[in-house]
Amino acid sequence: MARFSSITGTGSYLPPRRVTNADLAEELAAKGVETSDQWIVERTGIRARHFADDGVTSSDLGVEAARRALEAAGIAASEIDLIIVATSTPDMIFPSAACILQHKLGIAGCAAFDVQAVCSGFVYALTVADSLIKTGTANKALVIGAEVFSRILDFSDRTTCVLFGDGAGAVVLELSETPGILASDLHADGKHVGILCVPGTVSGGKVLGDPLLKMDGQAVFKLAVGVLEQAARATLAKAGREAADIDWLIPHQANIRIMQGTARKLKLPLDKLVVTVDQHGNTSAASIPLALDAAVRSGKISRGQTLMLEGVGGGFTWGAVLLDF
Ligand code: UT7
Repeated sequence: MARFSSITGTGSYLPPRRVTNADLAEELAAKGVETSDQWIVERTGIRARHFADDGVTSSDLGVEAARRALEAAGIAASEIDLIIVATSTPDMIFPSAACILQHKLGIAGCAAFDVQAVCSGFVYALTVADSLIKTGTANKALVIGAEVFSRILDFSDRTTCVLFGDGAGAVVLELSETPGILASDLHADGKHVGILCVPGTVSGGKVLGDPLLKMDGQAVFKLAVGVLEQAARATLAKAGREAADIDWLIPHQANIRIMQGTARKLKLPLDKLVVTVDQHGNTSAASIPLALDAAVRSGKISRGQTLMLEGVGGGFTWGAVLLDF
């Protein structure tokens, strides 16, 4: 039997606290930081984001998304033989969020680990899971993107703190006789470490350096538009497909202008773009599976359609996955 992988269920979870641009602008104004709903909407497309309450971790959000994906796939947690969590905001330095999440799901024994590729994390994790299924190491995987970026935001820096949110998305990826995942394309270029990073670390019982997110937004913006087009074209070429075959483009949800720019470069009509950045903000590794699940549950995406998932972010990392849903 040929070994391919297919997504059999999707799920997502947002922490209940929804913060609109107006709410955030009011909170920031009290600290002397000036921003506005108009600036945020015009420059990013973001209207609201969700923030987790104190003490709520990535694995807490991720396990809810995972339960919903399992329910959609119609399988029990005990059938899962691989868990990969894409996150840059894990619950602790170690063990991985994936191990903690596994225990919260009430299962034990299956492989579980985190993938750290920042906002490209989900396409990296999905590609790893696809490879492990194709090589016979796993048959039923949970691939999760889960983040609490609110914990690493500098709320005195208006150029970054208005952009990000918390949340989680998940898919069940199962062995199938037909693809499923058609092709992937992953890249990184470490010379750009400094344009998007959280430079601090823990050493000798202390935090060394700054543990809050730093971003050169314009540098990230310029790189993102170029690499997203390249990754999409390379993935299409590997699969022997054309851009016109894409039913839905689901890019990392960071900025509506980057997302629309990518669609235009691929000559895709903007109504083929799945957009949730307006309601979720940038949830890093969670943004693609959150957008995927929202579009599946709203009835936009249906079985048999061709989806292009694309991530880009800190590292610098980027990549794409083309799949028949
Ligand atoms: O998840 C990984 C991927 N990340 C991304 O894709 C982010 C990519 N970058 C971006 O999305 C955009 O560069 C930003 C949204 C971060 C910034 O948009 P921009 O159009 O590049 O704005 P800018 O940085 O050029 O700033 C324009 C002005 C500046 O004022 P001056 O110098 O022109 O007077 C900023 O100080 O906007 C000001 N500004 C703000 N004003 C109100 C920056 N942030 C804010 C703010 N509210 N929150």
